[in-house]
Amino acid sequence: MQYDNLLVEEREGIILLTINREKALNALNTQTMLELFQFFSSDYPKSDHIKGIVITGAGDRAFVAGADIKEFLDLDPKKGAEMAKRGHDIFFMIEQFPKPVVAAIHGFALGGGCELAMACHLRVATPEARFGQPEVNLGIVPGYGGTQRLIQYLGKTRALEYLMTADLFDAHQALSWGLLNHVVPRESLLDTAFGLIQKIASKGPVAISKIIELVNVYFSNPGEGFARELEAFGATTGTRDFREGASAFIEKRPAKFTGK
Ligand code: COA
Repeated sequence: MQYDNLLVEEREGIILLTINREKALNALNTQTMLELFQFFSSDYPKSDHIKGIVITGAGDRAFVAGADIKEFLDLDPKKGAEMAKRGHDIFFMIEQFPKPVVAAIHGFALGGGCELAMACHLRVATPEARFGQPEVNLGIVPGYGGTQRLIQYLGKTRALEYLMTADLFDAHQALSWGLLNHVVPRESLLDTAFGLIQKIASKGPVAISKIIELVNVYFSNPGEGFARELEAFGATTGTRDFREGASAFIEKRPAKFTGK
């Protein structure tokens, strides 16, 4: 499928998805959100041979500098709620995607950009990356999950401060607070993101999809996590991959998983 604002490239079974609006610092306008929805609801990224997805921003200045403020003056309460709902739906699709999704962040990750990064499963960034939820500068609240996910990573104390002051924070703060997995130089950014997915791709795919589901349950339905883990453990012992993984260990050879 052809997109106006997304570049989709496949390298060794990993999709590199680039938000491609460099002149607008990759701001998420309506068209880009629609395209993200189309991409994540299409069959292609779920194909058996796809190991995972790396999301990044075009150019050197920004991952994504937020929702497109130039479309904002047209909003009213009804359209605003609809816009936020579309964003929630897309970012839930990313968060619940059954294969690893890694954000590769350089430059600004603000507003919807920080929210997009937080919806991914893992995040790597350059030392120059800057994060924030500056929506209160515009008199609005974050609408793509920022009030909920920032707490998950930063805790209530820091989340309240950064949501209310609109201050930005840098990559080293983000790393030490648990928002980032790794901070690496710009030239290593994509390799690090791809390397994480390659490593995960050597494990049992069914188990990986269950890990993503179970960790999300901790936040969406906290009371259910242990029960869902019991179910998932039982289910994974019924897979061919489990037989293969255990046999490979005993036979001292690498496992060959098939996702069945
Ligand atoms: N929506 C639409 N356009 C945006 C944008 C956004 N969120 N962020 C940046 N742009 C555009 C600018 O309007 C500018 O376009 P122009 O050249 O046509 O005027 C271009 O990207 C470059 O941005 P500029 O502001 O000139 O760069 P800067 O280096 O001075 O500042 C930022 C960079 C990120 C600090 C600043 O652009 C900014 O604060 N952006 C908005 C961030 C935000 O509030 N996001 C949350 C939205 S809910």
